[in-house]
Amino acid sequence: MTRQLSSLAKKRLKYQPEMAKVLKDVKKTTVKSKNLKTKLCNKVKPYFPQLFNLPLLEIVEAKAKKLKKNEKKVEPKRLRVGVVFSGGQAPGGHNVIAGLFDSLKSLHIDSELIGFLNGPSGIVDAKFKKITESGLKQYRNQGGFDYLGSGRTKIETQSQLKASYETAKELDLDAIVVIGGDDSNTNAAVMAEYFLKKKSNTKVIGVPKTIDGDLKGDYIEKSFGFDTATKVYSEMIGNIAIDALSAKKYYHFIKLMGRSASHVTLECAINTQVNITLIAEEVLDKKLSLKEVAEDIAKKIEKRAKKGKFYGLVLIPEGLIEFIPEVKNLIFELNNILSQKKVVRQIEKAELLTEKVELIEKALKPKSRSCFKTLPSLIQEQLLLDRDPHGNVQVSKIETEKLLIELAGKILSEKKIKFKAQAHFFGYEGRSAFPTNFDSNYCYSLGTVATVLIKEGLTGYMASLKNLDMKPSSWQPLGVPITSMMNIEIRNGKPKPVIRKALVEMNSKEFRTFSKGRQLKENEDLYINPGPIQF
Ligand code: FBP
Repeated sequence: MTRQLSSLAKKRLKYQPEMAKVLKDVKKTTVKSKNLKTKLCNKVKPYFPQLFNLPLLEIVEAKAKKLKKNEKKVEPKRLRVGVVFSGGQAPGGHNVIAGLFDSLKSLHIDSELIGFLNGPSGIVDAKFKKITESGLKQYRNQGGFDYLGSGRTKIETQSQLKASYETAKELDLDAIVVIGGDDSNTNAAVMAEYFLKKKSNTKVIGVPKTIDGDLKGDYIEKSFGFDTATKVYSEMIGNIAIDALSAKKYYHFIKLMGRSASHVTLECAINTQVNITLIAEEVLDKKLSLKEVAEDIAKKIEKRAKKGKFYGLVLIPEGLIEFIPEVKNLIFELNNILSQKKVVRQIEKAELLTEKVELIEKALKPKSRSCFKTLPSLIQEQLLLDRDPHGNVQVSKIETEKLLIELAGKILSEKKIKFKAQAHFFGYEGRSAFPTNFDSNYCYSLGTVATVLIKEGLTGYMASLKNLDMKPSSWQPLGVPITSMMNIEIRNGKPKPVIRKALVEMNSKEFRTFSKGRQLKENEDLYINPGPIQF
C-alpha cells in the first residue's frame, strides 16, 4: 500500500536533512571512549553482567591510516541490519530509517536493511520486509510509522528472547535497531545481553523516541518527536486561545498527551502563555489533593470573573491524576479489588451504575472511599470499566479534563459565578505530523549514528547527539550505554531494571521559564498563537 501524497508531502520528500559534520562520511568515523559522569545504579549489574559499566562513546573523525608498502586498504564490510518501531508514533521515525539506510549503503552498497513489521512482535514472529530505496522514497521527511507499522509487544520473556535470537540468526543480522521509548530501550538492552550470552553475532542498538519527552538524561538531550508534537499542540492551543478571546464565553480545559511526565504540557504552556497550567510533578511536590486542585482552578477563574473575564484556557497533563496521592491510592485499591474474580462477577451482574458503585464503595478503605465518593459518576464509571488486559485501570483514558470542569464548576456555581466550559484532548493529532526540520535532521542523524555504532561492533548502546541547540553541523554524535540510564523499580510486584523516566523538575530551566510571570498570565490575556510549523 503506498501513500497518497499532498503537495506539501511531495515538497517535503525533497528536503535534504542537515546532519552532524562528522557523520557526513561514515567510512571516516571511529569511536573514542569517555568516562561517564552518570552515577551508575549498582543493583542493575547482576541483570546485565556483560553490558554494565560500558564507557560513553564519542563518534569522531578517524585519522587516515598510512598504508605500508603492499598493504591493502581494508574496506568496510557489508552489513545486514534489522530495524523496528516500538510503541507510540513520534514524528521523524521514517527519517531514522532513511538515515540508517543511506549510511549503510554508503558503507557498502550491498548492505541490507530489513524492517520488522508492526512492532517487536515482527521480530518474535519473523514478520519483516526488505527496505528498498523505491519503498522508502515516499516516506522521507514524512510523519507516522506506517512504512513498517508499530506495536507495543515487549520482548522480555525467555521464549520471546529465544524466538528473537532465532529470527536474528535466520536472517544473519549484524544488528537490530530498536526505535523506542524508555521501556522499549530497556528491552533492547535485555535483548543485547541475551544475545551476548548466546554468543549471537547480532548486536542491539536503541534510538530514543517518544513525544512524551521523558526519555532523557545526562547524554540524551531530547527524544525525537517531542519537538514536532509540542509545536502541533501549541498551534491548536493558540488557535483556541484566539477563539476564546473572540467569543469571550468559554473556558477551554485541554488535556495533553504525555503519559506520566508533564514535559509536553510545560512546553506548550511556555509556547502559548495560557492562563492556567497544571504540572503534575508540581501537584505532587505540593502534595495537593484533588479538592485543592479544583479549588485552586476555581479561585483563579473567580479572580478573572471579577475583572469581567469569563473565558480562558486551562492545560492539564495526561498523567495528572496519578500524581494526586489520594487518587493514586484509590487506583491502587481499585486494581486490587477488580483483580478478584468474585467482585468482578458481582459488578458485572449489577445492572445500574449506582449498584456497581455501592459494591465498590463497600470494598474500599475509608480514605479511598471518601475520595471515590467525590468523583462525578462519569469518572466513577471510567474507573470501573476501563481496564487494560492486566486488569489495571487505564489512567490515560480517564477524562481528567471533564472531571476538573465538573469539580471546579460546582464550586463556581455555589458562588454563582458564570462558567461555561469545553473539554478537549490533544494527543494522536500530534504523533504522526510532518516532522519539523529539527526532527527531520535529528532523526536522520540518529539513524546514521546507529550505523556507526553497528560498524564498530557495539551492542547495548543508544544512539544520541549532543549540542542540539546548536546548528546540526555542530551536533556531537554519541553512543550511550543503555544500562547507565537504568535503576531498579518495582513492576508487577517484582524488582526490575528499567530506564529511569525523566520527570519535570521544579528547578529545571523550563519550569523556571514557565513560572516567570505566572500570575500575570493567569489574570491577563497574554496568549501567543505560534501558528503552524514553519519549514
Ligand atoms: P511511547 O511512550 O510509546 O512513545 O507512547 C507515548 C504515548 O503517545 C503517550 O503519550 C500516550 O499515553 C500513549 O502513547 C498512548 O498509547 P496508545 O497509542 O497505545 O493509545
